[in-house]
Amino acid sequence: MASRESVTHSSEETIRLGREIGAGLKPSVLILLSGDLGSGKTTLTKGIAGGMGAAREEDVTSPTFTLVHKYRGQALIYHVDLYRIEDLHDLETLGIEDFFSEQAVVIVEWPDKLQLRTDWPVVRIQLEHVAEDTRRISIEGLPQTEEQSAKT
Ligand SMILES: Nc1ncnc2c1ncn2[C@@H]1O[C@H](COP(=O)(O)OP(=O)(O)O)[C@@H](O)[C@H]1O
Ligand SMILES: [Mg+2]
Repeated sequence: MASRESVTHSSEETIRLGREIGAGLKPSVLILLSGDLGSGKTTLTKGIAGGMGAAREEDVTSPTFTLVHKYRGQALIYHVDLYRIEDLHDLETLGIEDFFSEQAVVIVEWPDKLQLRTDWPVVRIQLEHVAEDTRRISIEGLPQTEEQSAKT
């Protein structure tokens, strides 16, 4: 498992980082995105979806009200935003636990709102608002590429 930290200076740079992450992911993986409103969680998700070939980046928007968006291209992504979730009943209505029986990447914004149960590998990403266009992005649990594993 690798961990890394990046600082980006524009949303485009954050999308690019997301693309790199997405290109190295294989389902099934749970990605937890923590950070304040506007820290770039949805922006990063655009890149991840693009990098996995799951969706066009411009089609990836915040699931603030519907709580879940589903993208299916070369890979399947469920993009979940728990910011507005009220209780476990909502969670059951959304059927999030069922996503884990599919071969997918599940990306969750505001994961601390609820305890999600899964035995999938988890990638934890923390985004911090440093300055107007500057974000610090810390990533833990990224699967190593075969190239990296060969070196260690
Ligand atoms: N380096 C950066 N990375 C990501 N977003 C940035 C950056 N600089 C400015 N922004 C802006 O910050 C906002 C991030 O919004 P969004 O990705 O929806 O955040 P969240 O999903 O965490 O609430 C966007 O308006 C984006 O253009
Ligand atoms: Mg968001």
